[in-house]
Amino acid sequence: MLRAIVHASEVLTGAGIRQKDGKNIQEADMGRIPDGAVVFSTRRVGGKEVPHRVEWVGPTAALPKRYARVRKQDLKGRRAVIPGLVDCHTHLVFAGDRSDEFALRCGGASYEEIAARGGGIASTVRATREASAAELERLAVERMREMAAFGVRTIEIKSGYGLSVEAELKQLDVVARLRKRFPELTLSSTFLGAHAFPKDRSREEYLEDLHERMLPEVARRKLAEACDVFIDQGYFTVEEARRLLQAARKRGLQVKVHADELGDTGSAKLAAELGALSADHLLKVSDEGVAALAASETVAVLLPGTAFYLKAPHAPARKLLSAGVRVALSTDFNPGTCVCLSLPLIMTIAALYLGMTRAEILAAVTYNAARALGLQARKGTIEAGRDADLAVLPFPSFEESYYRFGWSARGAALNVTKV
Ligand code: NIG
Ligand code: FE
Repeated sequence: MLRAIVHASEVLTGAGIRQKDGKNIQEADMGRIPDGAVVFSTRRVGGKEVPHRVEWVGPTAALPKRYARVRKQDLKGRRAVIPGLVDCHTHLVFAGDRSDEFALRCGGASYEEIAARGGGIASTVRATREASAAELERLAVERMREMAAFGVRTIEIKSGYGLSVEAELKQLDVVARLRKRFPELTLSSTFLGAHAFPKDRSREEYLEDLHERMLPEVARRKLAEACDVFIDQGYFTVEEARRLLQAARKRGLQVKVHADELGDTGSAKLAAELGALSADHLLKVSDEGVAALAASETVAVLLPGTAFYLKAPHAPARKLLSAGVRVALSTDFNPGTCVCLSLPLIMTIAALYLGMTRAEILAAVTYNAARALGLQARKGTIEAGRDADLAVLPFPSFEESYYRFGWSARGAALNVTKV
């Protein structure tokens, strides 16, 4: 079935962003169409009618006659339509909360000190291991609904709070169930068994678990599209990561890296060397790391909500952008370093503290974020033939979605399946 949205105050197609493959993005690349219209097809999945492909996009006044009878939603010039947002780095499936640690951090304790005392990732691992799959799913559903209300249509979800064969698979199984439950969203699943070393295994035993038990099972059951490793002091070394990511690639997974977050470990360079989809965080990336990324296809995924929440200096976004690196932005939603489901709030922080322009920000939460997941062939822009992932904003302009910072998305989202 065909449907149309007409008289959007503006439609941002992002066509120029795709044409430039996400680099050196300028204002004109946003593809702004005032008083715009989008025609798209829908398909039925499990009783739900969900948007499928974009048929046509352009000024409402130029809507071709052949769409005259298509059912239309008139936005009356009050709402903007942009490509569905892509949140390309989240740790969305977990149980428990760490508000006690937040209080400690506010009192001056550092993230590293808290982790060394048995808190941090280990604390969420305990809660996640104890929770049933049904409970994890219930918690994740609430979080996904909130994210989607901000216009997010694609969400990457990492495991990494199980740190045992059974609990890592449980987390990934939950992602598989969420995928069935939300056919209107695209989920990308990442195996992050190498998030930390569990307390109940030796380093060698856990590395063996990762290589011999987890990775083969994840690949065999196709539970993840990518494999990620947290490289930092006290976590995984560059050498351990290289070995695991090479093994993951051999098994058909793409690779990603939590790189240079707490310290400069040279992990951005490793990401570039391996042709990783993305190198994420990069708060402490060296000039050498920036140059390596610039010479690679790897997307730099910046997570400024995490720097904000850790009170750490931000990633050198302008340095990365001027070097010609593709930059994406994401929430990094997790219970420790960024307890925030709002991608628009992350965009506000990027505008103010990363010095990113609106065109760069749009590219960073759409096409480049899709590229960080290997989904750029279908997602991130509104163009005929590509996926009809549309974000209908409760504002007449894209900028307003992050100029108003910290707005609540409840009730703001338009469910395009109810056009
Ligand atoms: O992306 N850096 C590692 N992982 C998360 C934090 C995990 C946690 O504290 O629970 C991050 O910042
Ligand atoms: Fe993360």
